[in-house]
Amino acid sequence: GQAAAVIDGKSIAQDIKVRIAGEIRRTKAAIGKCPGLAVVLVGERRDSRTYINIKLRACEEVGIATQIAKLPENCTETELLDVVSDFNEDPSVHGIIVQLPLPQHLDEEKIMTVVSPEKDVDGFHPLNMGNLAMRGREPLFIPCAPKGCLELLLRFGVEIIGKKSVVIGRSKIVGLPISFLLQRHHATVCTVHPYTKKPEEIISQADIVVSDVGIPNMVRGNWLKPGAVVIDMGTNLVKDPSSRSGFCVTGDVCYKEAIKVVSAITPVPGGVGPVTIAMLLSNTLDSSKRAFG
Ligand code: GUN
Repeated sequence: GQAAAVIDGKSIAQDIKVRIAGEIRRTKAAIGKCPGLAVVLVGERRDSRTYINIKLRACEEVGIATQIAKLPENCTETELLDVVSDFNEDPSVHGIIVQLPLPQHLDEEKIMTVVSPEKDVDGFHPLNMGNLAMRGREPLFIPCAPKGCLELLLRFGVEIIGKKSVVIGRSKIVGLPISFLLQRHHATVCTVHPYTKKPEEIISQADIVVSDVGIPNMVRGNWLKPGAVVIDMGTNLVKDPSSRSGFCVTGDVCYKEAIKVVSAITPVPGGVGPVTIAMLLSNTLDSSKRAFG
C-alpha cells in the first residue's frame, strides 16, 4: 500500500514551544511576571528523574520559572503533604506536579486530592478528572499525555467525529482520560484492557488506535486496519547493547510492521512524548494567565 506518514511530534512540540515562549516574553515585558512550575520528586527512581529533568529543561527554554522539592524515598505522608501545601500557598507557583509513581507507602489518590485544583497542571485531581469525564463541564486542566494525543490527531487533520477508535489500556493518567477526551470529540470509543476477549478483533476494526500498554511491540501489524491512524503512547525501556545507556525507548506498537499497514503513526521516541511536555508548558501558561487576570 501507500507509504505511511510519520507524525513528527518533535517539530509540532517545537512549534508549540515557540508560541508559548513568545507569549511569556510579552507578558514579562508588560507586567514583569512569568509563569512558575513546582515539581515534587519522591525517591530516586531513574525514570522519574529523567522525566523531571526533561520537564525542567523545557520550562527553562520557554521562560517558565521552576522550583523542585526532593524528598527521600522513606518520607512520611505528612512531609509530602506539607510540601504540596506550601506550593499551593505560593503565589509564584501556578502549576504543581507530583511525579508518579510514588513509593508504595504513600497514597497516590490522597496526594492527588491535595494539589490545589487551580494548580493541577497534570489534571489528575478528581475534580478535574471528573469534569473531563462529564460532558458539559469544563476541567481547569486536561492531563498532558491525553492532550498531546489529541493535539497530534487535530494537527494531522485526522477526522475524529464518528470514527471507530480503540484505546488499549485504561491507566488513570493516560488511557482513561484519553477515552474521555476522544468521546468529548465525538469518536466512538472502545477500551481494550487485560480482561478483554479477542482484543485483536476489536483493534482491527478501529480507524484510530491509541496504545497505553507498557509492553514493547505488543500491537502487531496484522492487528491493525489498513489505513488506520496509530498514536503510540508507550515509552518502554528495552535493553539495547548498541546504545550508550544500554537501553532504548520502544513503543507499544511494532513500528516496522505497523508502518506497512497504517496511514499514519507516531514514532517512539519523537512522537507523543515531546508534545506531552509541550502540553505541560501550555497548562502552566494557562494557569498563570488565570492567576494574573
Ligand atoms: N508519571 C508518568 N507520567 C506522568 C505524568 O504525566 N505526570 C506525573 N506527575 N507523573 C507521571
